[in-house]
Amino acid sequence: MRIAVYPGSFDPITNGHLDIIERAAELFDRLIVAIAKNPLKKPLFTLEERLDMLRETLKFYPNIEIDSFDGLTVNYLKAKNAQVIIRGLRAISDFENEFMMALTNKKLVPRVETIFLMTRAEYSFISSSAVKEVAMYGGCLKGLVPEYVELKLREKFRKEGC
Ligand code: COA
Repeated sequence: MRIAVYPGSFDPITNGHLDIIERAAELFDRLIVAIAKNPLKKPLFTLEERLDMLRETLKFYPNIEIDSFDGLTVNYLKAKNAQVIIRGLRAISDFENEFMMALTNKKLVPRVETIFLMTRAEYSFISSSAVKEVAMYGGCLKGLVPEYVELKLREKFRKEGC
């Protein structure tokens, strides 16, 4: 069975992430969307809230599993018997960091491959930070995030939007 892991912060999941997830799920028998518990990041949403948004958004995809992990992504892959890391590439600016991470992961565990999917052009500008900023100032979130995430952002900032 071909198992891939899409790791990230997902604070929160956006339509850009969703696009990558849907396409990766077509390519593998099983896709694990896993939240990395990064102690250096200060997320807006708690781990439980982020897991809840992933579960709700992805509940109709039969071959997708939602999870979270501590420590190195490559160790998580080993534990899950997975060989592939999925990452999305939005623009040239993503490349440097992604290149560094892919090479570090390969150095740590040579059998691990990172597969990059190019984000669809219409999502290439979306980031979780931008979405949070729009929500904070009550801007329109339509088309940027799944409806359930929009609701959760509205609750967090107590702003109405469009
Ligand atoms: N659509 C929309 N946004 C996207 C996106 C897409 N397709 N792809 C990335 N992004 C955005 C995210 O929203 C996020 O935006 P933000 O910075 O505004 O919040 C940003 O790109 C990066 O987020 P993410 O993809 O979640 O990556 P990350 O840098 O938070 O985490 C990990 C990357 C989890 C893969 C990495 O830190 C990791 O592997 N950690 C575990 C520890 C480890 O193994 N370290 C060694 C590896 S070097």
